[in-house]
Amino acid sequence: MTDNAPTPAPVPQPAAPAPAAKPITRADFLWTGWAMLAAFFGASAAATARFMFPNVIYEPSQKFNAGPAKSYDLGVSIKFLSEQRVWIIRNEKGIYAMWARCTHLGCTPNWWGDQNRFKCPCHGSNYTIAGDVIAGPAPRPLWRCKVELSAKGDLIIDKAVLEDLPGKRELAPYFLEMA
Ligand code: FES
Repeated sequence: MTDNAPTPAPVPQPAAPAPAAKPITRADFLWTGWAMLAAFFGASAAATARFMFPNVIYEPSQKFNAGPAKSYDLGVSIKFLSEQRVWIIRNEKGIYAMWARCTHLGCTPNWWGDQNRFKCPCHGSNYTIAGDVIAGPAPRPLWRCKVELSAKGDLIIDKAVLEDLPGKRELAPYFLEMA
């Protein structure tokens, strides 16, 4: 044999046998089952708890105190127009409050005392002082709010309770008779 004879390639050795997989025992199987059951009941309990506390938006109260009822003179008061979006209207018989929201698409009409009407700046609906539509696209009268008198004579207005039907809106609780 000479010095420049090729070195023989290494002979591949067989891979070591993989360790045998641990067999699943009856105890493993039972523990897996219990774990899945616990996860199921845990998720159900969490969903039930979440259901008990729904997402609620706490909006400000729709009721407000408009001050002494007797402080309102005959005619339309805009005292609470910007703060509460309500006109307070006094006539010879009593007092009522109207929600200042056009029944067409919800703009805020303006009171035009010289023309004795509310006029909506958006699409031209006009309403009488009673809230009835006399011009424009508004489909129905303005809404009146519930009004009541507090023990000390303040006017309490509730914008969550509304009425617009002639015949009903002129009666309590949407109209407060005043001597
Ligand atoms: S929103 Fe008032 S007329 Fe259209």
